[in-house]
Amino acid sequence: MFNSNHEQELSKRRTFAIISHPDAGKTTITEKMLLLGKAIRISGTIKGRGNGKYAKSDWMNIEKERGISVTTSVMQFTYKNILMNLLDTPGHQDFSEDTYRILTAVDCCLVVIDAAKGIEERTKKLIDVTRIHNTPIITFINKLDRDSREPIEILDEIEKELKLNCIPINWPISCGKNFKGVYQIYDKMVYLYKNKLFKKNFLNLDSFSDFYNGLVGEYIGTDIAISIHQELELIINIYSKFNKEKFLRGIITPIFFGSALGDFGIDHLLDSLIKWAPTPLYRQSSKRKVYPQEKKFTGFIFKIQANMDLKHRDRIAFMRIVSGQYTKGMKLKHVRVKKNITISDAFTFLAGDRISVNKAYPGDVIGLHNHGTIKIGDTFTEGEEIKFIGIPSFAPEIFRLIYLKNPLKRKQLKKGLVQLSEEGTVQVFRPILNNNLILGAIGILQFDVVIERLRIEYNIDAIYKKVNIILARWIRSKNGDSIDKFKNNHSTYLAYDTSNSLIYLAPSSANLDVVMTQNSDIFFDKIREQ
Ligand code: G4P
Repeated sequence: MFNSNHEQELSKRRTFAIISHPDAGKTTITEKMLLLGKAIRISGTIKGRGNGKYAKSDWMNIEKERGISVTTSVMQFTYKNILMNLLDTPGHQDFSEDTYRILTAVDCCLVVIDAAKGIEERTKKLIDVTRIHNTPIITFINKLDRDSREPIEILDEIEKELKLNCIPINWPISCGKNFKGVYQIYDKMVYLYKNKLFKKNFLNLDSFSDFYNGLVGEYIGTDIAISIHQELELIINIYSKFNKEKFLRGIITPIFFGSALGDFGIDHLLDSLIKWAPTPLYRQSSKRKVYPQEKKFTGFIFKIQANMDLKHRDRIAFMRIVSGQYTKGMKLKHVRVKKNITISDAFTFLAGDRISVNKAYPGDVIGLHNHGTIKIGDTFTEGEEIKFIGIPSFAPEIFRLIYLKNPLKRKQLKKGLVQLSEEGTVQVFRPILNNNLILGAIGILQFDVVIERLRIEYNIDAIYKKVNIILARWIRSKNGDSIDKFKNNHSTYLAYDTSNSLIYLAPSSANLDVVMTQNSDIFFDKIREQ
């Protein structure tokens, strides 16, 4: 630890992301958090509600600009003297590899689940990514003001599907029209939903049996109170107590129930983030672990966003600070290109505005102007030759064949695609056996973004069409032997990515299963280090 001020800055920071399946309530929760943090004053600021239902990629002409595109990448706000760095995980059509990679730049995740739907496909995929680093997870079960599934059924599903042990922190008192609030198990408090009966919106219980006596019984109705009391006795017996160490190791997830739209429970979520989420964590580099307490600055790039300012066509590289302190005008080494650069115009984000940043600390995210030299995964230091690892590429989930309207521009097409792939917009594969170029992405919108950017930035007219590939896995030999034999036997399905790593492009999951079983000496990786 190099000084106590630095230690204080660390203790004041939490860096987290909210993840959910579309429509579970991520935007509503973000908005309520920003309201509580006084970073915005009115609801409806976050996405252009009324201008179309979904937030869309801010890039393309063919789409309307979204509400506050700049701030949706990173939002900084203060809650009870703690500086919250909330990183946005693009969700609807703009779901992409970025969404996955952002999860490598946070220290904690908030998972939002729709109480009527339970675990949905996107939630499961995103949680799988958080398991790479065992990121601690807090779970919010939302929309209790609507008819919901049995809470215990949802918890069972979380334990089974997400392989996390649930620890309920509160428990809902009915749902839908009868939703009365939650019982805060450890505090023995009942928080009342839309209460008009009492002055306070919570009631303290002297003893657990008070649940169906006195004011609580009066509020909830004695019959419901007795049945919830019985349920609670069971819950308290079945589930273990919250244990911070297990939470930090990503073994258990504390569970909160509430209603984001009803503004119910978001303050408790923020309180739990302050109390339990880790202060900025160390990151692993190629040579050693780098700790936030270290004096020398280090950071890594986890996202590049193009054309945030349409007038300037600029690209912004987002850097998570790992150690030391950023001060305006400091000289940093861009390790991959072995160059020192002076960073004088880094900025941060505050509800809608880019703000030039003078000082920033571990856990913070700063934006750097990028003129095409910065790649995802790049490390910046004060001179040390290290590279942060764990900012991987993820195997694409959808594929398209791209081809030119004017075949003479193939060289430009390749150049454009290499640059776009370095920014993480799309992955590009060259099959071993032919001259095709295959694009791989996680979200379908990425293909349109690529075509549009090729047209505007590289003056190339290209189109894409479907291709018979549904899964991809990077290929490595398990024992360090050559993989020539595998290459010869399976060349039809093999391609190289832009860093010349070999990848298997499977036409069906059955095909992949067979090939994997027949080749037990080969790793089929879902992720690849940059
Ligand atoms: P997302 O970012 O995860 O995609 O979800 P978002 O917050 O946009 O919420 C999706 C829909 O669910 C929105 O309604 C929102 O108002 C609603 N919602 C969110 N939280 C709650 C809740 O606690 N209770 C209830 N009843 N509804 C909730 P919408 O009609 O689709 O959009 P809008 O017209 O309200 O924007």
